[in-house]
Amino acid sequence: MKNDTIAIDGPAGAGKSTVARLLARRLGFLYVDTGAMYRAAALVVERNAVAFTAEDEITALIRSARIEFVNGEGDTQYLYLNGEDVTEAIRTPGVASLASQVSAIPGVRRALVALQQQLAVSGGVVMEGRDIGTVVAPDAEIKIFLTATPEERANRRHAELAARGNDVSLESVRADQDERDERDATRQVAPLVAASDAIILYSDGQTPEEIVEDIVAMTEARRREA
Ligand code: DC
Repeated sequence: MKNDTIAIDGPAGAGKSTVARLLARRLGFLYVDTGAMYRAAALVVERNAVAFTAEDEITALIRSARIEFVNGEGDTQYLYLNGEDVTEAIRTPGVASLASQVSAIPGVRRALVALQQQLAVSGGVVMEGRDIGTVVAPDAEIKIFLTATPEERANRRHAELAARGNDVSLESVRADQDERDERDATRQVAPLVAASDAIILYSDGQTPEEIVEDIVAMTEARRREA
């Protein structure tokens, strides 16, 4: 039997995090948010004030950084960078934009992919990101590419940021999103594409719970066929 990793890839704002978190809870699996790891890498770059062109220096910094998920009460999860809780610090639009740039550096991707593969080594993982089905876990039991129309994604991100007290306009969220989508889809290493064997789901008009039920049903159907 293939290892029981569930890969959830897709663009920003498609609802991946909510779906992946709920799905992990439902299955009793570990939830791994790989975007948070790229965001932590961005924080390392920002704090060390390194130029983006200094790719070797950045890669060395990321290799020597300690990026760890720490489980809290219930299924809350924190991200620690060199022993410091950066769970909130990585959620700003500035860090998101930096993360998109840092994630285009091949050495950074190699370092973080290796960490992600270690986290998935014993299976029982729902892993969310951009290249899980294509690069990190090509043998995943089931691969979902979760997307939504650009309008829907921007509306969601805008609401999420507003809920955190971040007063940015919908237009600027949409402009950032378009820029990030373009960069993530066109970069040389591991661009955002659905794996050839991924199931493509649109989240428009569906609740996260409905999507989770669909994925559980698909996983069970696959298991019966195996
Ligand atoms: O999912 P997110 O918005 O937290 O991701 C932040 C950035 O990290 C995003 O611009 C794309 C990048 N990323 C990536 O390149 N590969 C992943 N597996 C996850 C995220």
